[in-house]
Amino acid sequence: MAYDVIVIGSGPGGYVCAIKAAQLGLKTAVVEKRSTFGGTCLNIGCIPSKALLHASQMYDEAGKELVQMGIGEGKPKLDFKKMMAHKDATVKANVDGVAYLFKKNKVDTYTGFGQVLGGGKVSVTNDEGETQELEAKNVVIATGSQVAGIPGLDVEIDEKTIVSSTGALELEKVPETMIVVGAGVIGLEMGSVWARLGTKVTVVEFLDKVLGPMDGEVSEQFQRMLDKQGMDINLSSKVTAVERTEKGAKVTFEPEKGGDSQSIEADIVLVATGRKPYTEDQGMAKAGIVFDKANRIEVDYHFRTSIPNVYAIGDAVRGPMLAHKAEDEGMAVAEILAGQAGHVNYGVIPNVVYTHPEVASVGKTEEDLKKEGVEYVVGKFPFTANGRARAMLATDGFVKFLADKKTDRVLGVHIIGAEAGDMIHEACVLMEFGGSSEDLGRTCHAHPTLSEAVREAALATFAKPIHM
Ligand code: FAD
Ligand code: NAI
Repeated sequence: MAYDVIVIGSGPGGYVCAIKAAQLGLKTAVVEKRSTFGGTCLNIGCIPSKALLHASQMYDEAGKELVQMGIGEGKPKLDFKKMMAHKDATVKANVDGVAYLFKKNKVDTYTGFGQVLGGGKVSVTNDEGETQELEAKNVVIATGSQVAGIPGLDVEIDEKTIVSSTGALELEKVPETMIVVGAGVIGLEMGSVWARLGTKVTVVEFLDKVLGPMDGEVSEQFQRMLDKQGMDINLSSKVTAVERTEKGAKVTFEPEKGGDSQSIEADIVLVATGRKPYTEDQGMAKAGIVFDKANRIEVDYHFRTSIPNVYAIGDAVRGPMLAHKAEDEGMAVAEILAGQAGHVNYGVIPNVVYTHPEVASVGKTEEDLKKEGVEYVVGKFPFTANGRARAMLATDGFVKFLADKKTDRVLGVHIIGAEAGDMIHEACVLMEFGGSSEDLGRTCHAHPTLSEAVREAALATFAKPIHM
């Protein structure tokens, strides 16, 4: 059977691409080597981590904010096994959901390792080593990413004591102590989960700030909040060794600028120093696919690789390694293959860290604008001055708008606070339409909502906020 499209990989990039292609009338198949669909995101990434982040946050609030509101008297008992079962059930519901959507949209599925052979051919090899060949007019590679490890070090990640995010989602009990290498998004999200459940978490980070690419002011305030939550954060520190010990594992690090090294020991070490595209050992180079220096598949503006009719999307190509970026690319490629004008606006891709409070941003940071020499104005509004935030005991954080000084066009929005990850989309829509801070400042917002703080920050950019 010849397909219009074969997609290799069923993560957010691949499964969304396949469903969209089928919706547009293309005969579509997906090849996935895992026994369930959904890729990193649904199986070992976004979904299980958010299930644990939500559950652990509720547990944390039950002992604190809820008591302040008159609910309960102290920390409730933790049923750890049940919390992990909630995570597993959430994953199952989501991966089953993708299988259902494939059936509903008549997407054919093949379980096995897919390889692009060129000339519209794809081989699929199952666990028994049996290979079959499929044919398609177009192939979309969506093979995603994998754990990168610590640059320059050969650390053995056993997923029991020295773990990546995958092992950190599967721990058998709450550890007493954990060292997190890397204060990026995985380190701080997973570190938060275990800290809330009672683990003493120590973070070691190479850079002089947490969440490296985030707006500096946001990152600074966020670090203070993490300090208050009891995380011990060591910045400007380069990890030089991670070794197993009798008790657990030992991390050795030294000041990034040079100096004496020190070692600390913990039950668990989480290595969260980045991910790399999953493009090695895939036979792609043999087929003629060209890679960039970071081993990402080279694609042009229309996601075309160096082989005719072979496209690539998601974590395997340039751009942020985010599920929604992969999804948007998947939809765009399907539209292109159906003869439509598929397109992704890389200037408006939100970035959310699902800690407490959440950190969300879209567009340029203040540091970006300074570097680019763009003249800008800043509008800020704190959640301490928002009525709903007070009612929720969620007054930590602020909203920050950055707008062009001459035109008032919004260039970036940064939010640190409860539900920041949902509120950021107001800014995304505004920026997608090239809106100004005045456009948002003059839009009626329901009272009392956290979103009023977004409007007030917009007001602060071109006029004055009311409640401050
Ligand atoms: P993937 O999801 O990695 O999917 C690739 C799929 O291809 C896999 O199923 C793999 O088995 C399959 N595959 C690979 N090679 C082959 C082959 N040769 N044949 C057949 N199948 C193959 N992003 C967010 O936006 N929000 C979050 O909250 C978030 N949380 C995360 C939490 C963690 C712990 C991690 C690790 C990541 C998180 N991410 C998050 C990132 C997100 O998971 C990725 O950006 C996203 O999954 C990328 O989608 P993708 O389709 O490109 O690849
Ligand atoms: P990251 O790139 O966000 O952070 C890695 C951190 O490790 C960096 O701050 C880096 O400076 C530090 N580091 C590197 N080497 C070091 C060393 N030797 N010593 C000390 N520190 C060192 O990578 P992370 O957190 O592993 O996440 C990988 C990807 O997964 C990200 O690109 C992210 O986009 C995606 N992801 C997204 C989530 C979300 O959107 N909420 C959640 C989880 C992951």
